[in-house]
This record gives sequence, C-alpha cells and structure tokens, in this order.
Amino acid sequence: MLSVEGVCKSFAGNRVLHEVTFDVRAGEVLALVGENGAGKSTVLSLITGLQTPDSGRIVLDGEPVRAWSPQRARSAGIGSVHQELSLNPHQTVAENIFLGAWPTRGGLVLGRNLAEHARPLLERVGLDVDPRTKAGRLPLGQQQLVELAKALVSRPRLLILDEATSALDDDQVQAVFRVVRELREANSSVIMVSHRMAELFAMSDRLTVLRDGQVTATRERAETDHDDIVRLMIGRELSNLFPDRPAATEAGPRLVARGLTVPGACHGVDLELAPGRIIGLGGLQGQGQREVLRALGGLARHAGTVELDGRPCRSRSPRDAIRRGIAYVPEDRKIEGVHVAQSVRANLALPNLRTLAPASRLATVARGAENRLVDELIRRLRVKTSSPAQQVRRLSGGNQQKVALAKWLPTRPGVLLLAEPTRGIDVGTKREIYHLLRELADGGMAVLVTSGDTMELVGLCDEVAVMYEGTVVDRLSGPDLTEERLVRASVTGSVAHA
Ligand SMILES: Nc1ncnc2c1ncn2[C@@H]1O[C@H](COP(=O)(O)OP(=O)(O)OP(=O)(O)O)[C@@H](O)[C@H]1O
Ligand SMILES: [Mg+2]
Repeated sequence: MLSVEGVCKSFAGNRVLHEVTFDVRAGEVLALVGENGAGKSTVLSLITGLQTPDSGRIVLDGEPVRAWSPQRARSAGIGSVHQELSLNPHQTVAENIFLGAWPTRGGLVLGRNLAEHARPLLERVGLDVDPRTKAGRLPLGQQQLVELAKALVSRPRLLILDEATSALDDDQVQAVFRVVRELREANSSVIMVSHRMAELFAMSDRLTVLRDGQVTATRERAETDHDDIVRLMIGRELSNLFPDRPAATEAGPRLVARGLTVPGACHGVDLELAPGRIIGLGGLQGQGQREVLRALGGLARHAGTVELDGRPCRSRSPRDAIRRGIAYVPEDRKIEGVHVAQSVRANLALPNLRTLAPASRLATVARGAENRLVDELIRRLRVKTSSPAQQVRRLSGGNQQKVALAKWLPTRPGVLLLAEPTRGIDVGTKREIYHLLRELADGGMAVLVTSGDTMELVGLCDEVAVMYEGTVVDRLSGPDLTEERLVRASVTGSVAHA
C-alpha cells in the first residue's frame, strides 16, 4: 500500500538517509529496526509529512504523494504515535485525543460530550482512566496509550508506531498488540519501531533493517532470528547481553530506607542499597517505583527514615542529594534529564563543573579537561552526534537518553538511581550500559534501577524488590529471580511461592 523509493535526506550537510527503499503491504506489520541514530524516526517523518525528502519519493496506493503534509497524511489514512510524547499536559485526556479532529455531527462540534466520545477509544487501548483527567497527571506509559487512542481517531489504514511501547509494562504492551492485531485483521497496515526485540518478533510479518541511514536487508520474520537481525543492525555478533553476577559481597549497606512513604504514591518501603550491588524495583507501571527514586533523589517530600553510611540523611532537593553523592537519572529525559536547547558538551559538563573548575574563584572551566571528559563520555556510550557542539534536541531519542545517563558517570556517585535506564536504547548499547553498570557497581557504587522490562531486571540485578500498589510485596534473588516469578508477583501483588 505504501512504498518508500530511493529516499535521501540530509540535515545541514549531514547525510542521515541514503537511497532508502522498502514497502509495506496491506494487512502487514512491518518492523523497522536499527541502532540509535540509524534514521528510523527520520524515515517515518517523511511518511507522515513532517519532513520532505531531498530526493526519492513516497508512493501511496501506486501514486507518488505530492505536496505532502501532516494534514494530508492524516486524511490519507496515516495515523502515528511519535517517539516523543506530544500531549498537552494542561488539557484533559479527551481534549488531547480529539485535538485537531473534534467529533462533529452535521457540522456541529460535539464538545460537551467529548469525554463520552473518548471512552470507547480509551477502552480499545486498554486504558482505565477518567477522560477528564489532565493528561500531564498520568504516568508516562498511560500518556503513551493516550497517544495511541489519539492516532486511532481517524481510523488509520496505516498506523505508525515509533517506540510506542517504550514506556509500557507487559500488560500495556499486550493492549497495544491487541490494537495491532485488530488493524491487521481489518487489512490495515502497521509500521513499528521498537528496541525490544521480543516484541518485534512477536508482532511483525517482515523486518527492514536500517544501518547508518541505509537499508541493509528486509527479511520475512519466519526466515530470520534474533542474532541475524542484530548482525544486520550493528554489523557484528553480540554475545553476553548481560554481565556475569559477582559472588555476593560482604559490604554493609550504604543507604538504608525504612518505612519510606510519599503520600498518595508509596508507603512503608524498606530498601537496603549496598556497594557492589544492583537492586531492581519491579512491578507493573505506576506502583510507586518512580516516587521511591524521586524521594531518595531529593525530588519528593517523604516520611520514613533514610540513612546514608549509618547517618540520617534527608535530601530536600536534588542539590542536597548530589552533594551526598546520590545521582538520579530520571525517566522523562526531555523534561528532567537533559537541557534540550543546550549542546551535548554543556549537558555532559554540567554535573561535573566542580571537578572541571577546581577551586577557581573565577569559575573558569578548564577547557582542555572539559573536552577530554566530553570526548571520553561520547566515545564510551557511543553517543551519535555530529559534534559535541550539537544541540541535544537534534540527537535521536536514544542518543538523548545516553546523554542523560553519561553526564553523571564522572561524578562517581556513591548511590546511582536510575529510572528506565535503557528506554529507547538499541540492543548493542544496552549491552554496553549493562556492563558499565556492573563495572560501576564492582567499583563500589550502590545502584537502584526501575524498569518495565522484566528481562532486563532479571538479567541485570542482584535482587529485585517487586512493588504493588505503593509497597514492596516480594523480593527475588538468586534462583528465585526469574521472569515468571517476577511477572506473577507484579500482577498478583502477593509473594510468588515457587
Ligand atoms: N532536525 C535534525 N537536525 C539535525 N540532525 C538531525 C535532525 N533530525 C535527526 N537528525 C540526525 O539524524 C540521525 C538519525 O536520527 P533518527 O532520529 O532518525 O534516528 P533513529 O533511528 O530514530 O534513532 P533512535 O533509535 O535513537 O530513535 C541522527 O544522527 C540525528 O542526530
Ligand atoms: Mg527514533
């Protein structure tokens, strides 16, 4: 139904897509895969009319599209969920869903019953929220599902999902899959981008692989496997996704939380974080994991006691926490994690100014030292940027996430708090991050990580505390730490007996 033919695209002389050709058939789910910065979102932006190709063409139902724009794409039946959330946080869920496409009857806008019109769409995406809630009050995953509901308003013949599941837990992903299956059964098409390989293999009929802006192959799902796709993506084999776990350490805890409570979010949470250990916070989305991290990171008022190295510690602000050696990498990178309007260099240097401008009254930064630090971080996390001077908003989504994480590493925090550290990150870099986190732990850091990806928690952590309705209901480690038990405890909220 749609083909992309020999498309090229550059930004400021920087070639991002080169002679890209692939097609999507009616009633097919096509996966578009590739490393961070490979050009996936850029191709999709050409299909949805947000950008124009420098050369090549987009052909819809056999006709090359002309004067293409987001409006035209929408009226031609192309719906999309973008990688970056675009809801207006101050408007209600229903208003967001119908923004630009208000339901009308006989030319009259049906504004009063907007909420009623929204309900069936919310139901379709498995979202049980009041359509009159302000969108900004919902957790990220629920916002992502609202975006999906919004894309369904115009009954798309082609639905584009650019990492539409990246902030979702297993249950929510199933809801998205249901929608995708319905569309496929109705002979509509779907293009999906995801860095979760299991999802790609579960859902897609064919996979097209992009590498450095070029298509390396298109494969029928039945004729390929995980390793083949990874090889096409990154040009090499990938072994040991997760690092080995060291033997249990004898070290006493560094940070101890007792009865940690954030009103309305979590209550009575006990945690012990020790040097050399990676502790996971699991559970379905929105069970209080985020607030535990925010409380420890000085971002949420809380009750209960927290001790750091045996002394009471109550961080009242991020600055307080940072001074104590507690670093927090937030989930919503665009709002809390990076300065999108600043350069990669400025973002990476910012938390490290104290070491870069040592005791200087003039507060001048040692330029050479800064460059060395920035270059090292860019290399270590393979941040794909045209130069350190590039604005962070021009980086691909996954590369922005890398900046949000990388900037903390040189501060050598004693406690590292990570919310969804690999959200939107490609499989090759995921491996780098897992190994890096283990290295940091081995070097004496205490790590606490939340993730909606059960495989990640099981593969990476020494112990996982499972949260349900705001409190820890189970702790899994050693042979008990399996995906099955983690999922069971997450869903039932009770201790998963073997
Ligand atoms: N407006 C822009 N100006 C300059 N460079 C851009 C712009 N948009 C994208 N790029 C560059 O194009 C390349 C491809 O970006 P794109 O967002 O398509 O990657 P992606 O495959 O979607 O990656 P990810 O998995 O991280 O989302 C990146 O190197 C990015 O920095
Ligand atoms: Mg992208």
